[in-house]
Amino acid sequence: LKVIRTLEEMLSQPPHQGGFVPTMGAFHEGHLSLMRQAKAECSHVTVSLYVNPLQFGPNEDLARYPRQEELDFRMAADAGVDVMFAPRSDEWALASKTSVSVRGLTDVWEGAFRPGHFDGVATIVAKLFNLVRPRMAYFGLKDFQQCAVIRQMVADLDFPLQLRFCDTIRETDGLALSSRNRYLSPDDRAVAAKLFAELLRLAEAFRNLPVTEWSSELEKSIATLSELGFMVDYLAAVDKETLQIQQDSSKPTQIIVAARLGSTRLIDNLAV
Ligand code: PAF
Repeated sequence: LKVIRTLEEMLSQPPHQGGFVPTMGAFHEGHLSLMRQAKAECSHVTVSLYVNPLQFGPNEDLARYPRQEELDFRMAADAGVDVMFAPRSDEWALASKTSVSVRGLTDVWEGAFRPGHFDGVATIVAKLFNLVRPRMAYFGLKDFQQCAVIRQMVADLDFPLQLRFCDTIRETDGLALSSRNRYLSPDDRAVAAKLFAELLRLAEAFRNLPVTEWSSELEKSIATLSELGFMVDYLAAVDKETLQIQQDSSKPTQIIVAARLGSTRLIDNLAV
């Protein structure tokens, strides 16, 4: 595994036209599955490890975001990664006067609770695409809205690459893997999987109900989750492309949720 620390060195790499997995580190099986899929489809794989300050709000967990670089490097090497781009300086992100903003998709749901978050994501991912110049880029569907934003950005800015969105990896009880799960207290961890259980219940219910009755099912789930101790930020059935509330059950629908449990914010989603 070759570790690259500067933009100059990254730009001086020969164009490999390979696979690229952007990450913020603290690897778990979700990240590793993206790396393995990239390696299966591309002979050369680059992973970036950068905790991007542009995508954290002033009261968010940037300072305490988990960092375990040496362990991450070993895990990436075992997954067959060729190059790890792990810039040390924040200057390249913070000095940017240009911000990439994907209208329409970024101010709803996660964007409403985390203003500026997706501009920070899109800006850093655009910069990374320019530095790494991949042929294929891999993202986890756990961050469903992020996938929609990146898809639109790649189309609008004509990035010459293909996107792969890969299934969420879950614990055996259904909890979606996330670097933030380690913040959960043992008690909260025990109930955290109920979030996915409610998504499964809703997906099943929606298959048998007209779309006009979906909102009362969503209300029931919010009540159940609240009783279990979740603070639900949003729970909605949205159109997969537009992220607008679904009005037509014949169109592809995704149930999306964000809820806080103690001091940990969990997000998840499921196709109907
Ligand atoms: O999904 C993430 O880990 C981040 O949002 C990403 C895509 C690496 C951009 O910082």
